[in-house]
Amino acid sequence: MNNLECYDFQPELGSFHDEILQSLAQSKKAIAPKFFYDKRGSELFERICELEEYYPTRTEIALLKTHSQEIAQLIGKGSLLIEYGSGSSTKVRILLEALQEPVGYMPIDISQEHMVQASAELAQSYSELDVIAVCADYTQDFQLPPYSKKPVNKKLIFFPGSTIGNLDPTQALHLLKQSASLLDTGDGMLIGVDLKKDPAILNAAYNDALGVTAEFNLNLLERINKELNANFDLANFRHWAFYNEEYSRIEMHLISLKEQTVAIAQIPFHFHEGETIHTESSYKYSIEEFQELADRAGFDAPQVWTDANHLFSLHYLMVR
Ligand code: AVJ
Repeated sequence: MNNLECYDFQPELGSFHDEILQSLAQSKKAIAPKFFYDKRGSELFERICELEEYYPTRTEIALLKTHSQEIAQLIGKGSLLIEYGSGSSTKVRILLEALQEPVGYMPIDISQEHMVQASAELAQSYSELDVIAVCADYTQDFQLPPYSKKPVNKKLIFFPGSTIGNLDPTQALHLLKQSASLLDTGDGMLIGVDLKKDPAILNAAYNDALGVTAEFNLNLLERINKELNANFDLANFRHWAFYNEEYSRIEMHLISLKEQTVAIAQIPFHFHEGETIHTESSYKYSIEEFQELADRAGFDAPQVWTDANHLFSLHYLMVR
C-alpha cells in the first residue's frame, strides 16, 4: 500500500500516569473523558452506538446519508478531509462515497492502534486517496503534517459524533478557533452537535437498560488498574449519569459506594462514601447557540441539517 502514511505526535506514555494522578488529587475528583478509549473502551463505545436508547449515532448517520449530495456540492472537487477522533472511520465512508474526487484523508486520533487499523482498511478501499494517519490529541494545540502530493482545493475538518460536547463552551470555542487557524478562508468544517431536548430522552441515552454505558464508565477504573498498577475494586463504584439542566449537560460520574482507599502506583487516594469521580460532561446546544459559538470563532454557518424530531444537528461551517 503506497497511499498510507502515519505520523505519531502521541503525548509521551507518561502523560496518562501524570494526568490521572493529578486529576484524582484535586478536591473535586475528575478524569478527562478522552481516557475512556483504550481497546476495550473503544469496543464498548461502539456497542453504545448501537443501543436503542443512544440516538446520536444513528441519527447523525441518517443525516449524513440523506444530505451527502448537498454536502458534496458545498465542498466541491479535490478536497482534503481532516477528521478529529476518527475511531473506526465508519462515518467518513459516507462522505468519501459522495465527495467529488477527494485527494486525501487525514484522521487524527489519540488511540493509535485503533486508528492505524481503520486507516489501513480505508486506504485499501480507496486506492486513489492519500491517507495520512495522525496520532495526536486534537484537544491540545497541534499542527497538521505537511501534505503536498496533490493540489488541494479545499480543506474540510469533519468532527462528527457531538464529541465537541465533551468540552465546556469555553474549551469548545477554543477548539473551533484552533480549527479555524488550521484552515484558510472558504475552507469548511462539518460538525455534529447533539441538541437540547426532553431530559427523559437524554437520561435514557446515558443510562441504557443493558448497562453498556455503565460498563464503559467503569472500564476507566479497569484501565487505571491495568496500566497504572492500581487496585480499584469495581464492585465498590457505580455508574451515575444525569442531565444537569443548569449547565445543559449530561454528567457521568463514578460514585464510591463506601469509604475506601485505593492505591495507584503506590500512592493512596481516599474516597468518602458517596464521593464521585466526574468522568464526562456532554454539553447540549440549541442550533442558535452553536451557530453563535461558531460565529465567535470566525466561522459563517451557511447550512445546518437536523432530523424530524430535532434530536441532533449537523452544521456546515465556513471560515470567514
Ligand atoms: C463520544 C462524547 C459524543 O457524549 O454522547 C456516550 C460519549 N458517553 N455515552 C457522548 C458517550 C456515554 C459520547 N461522545
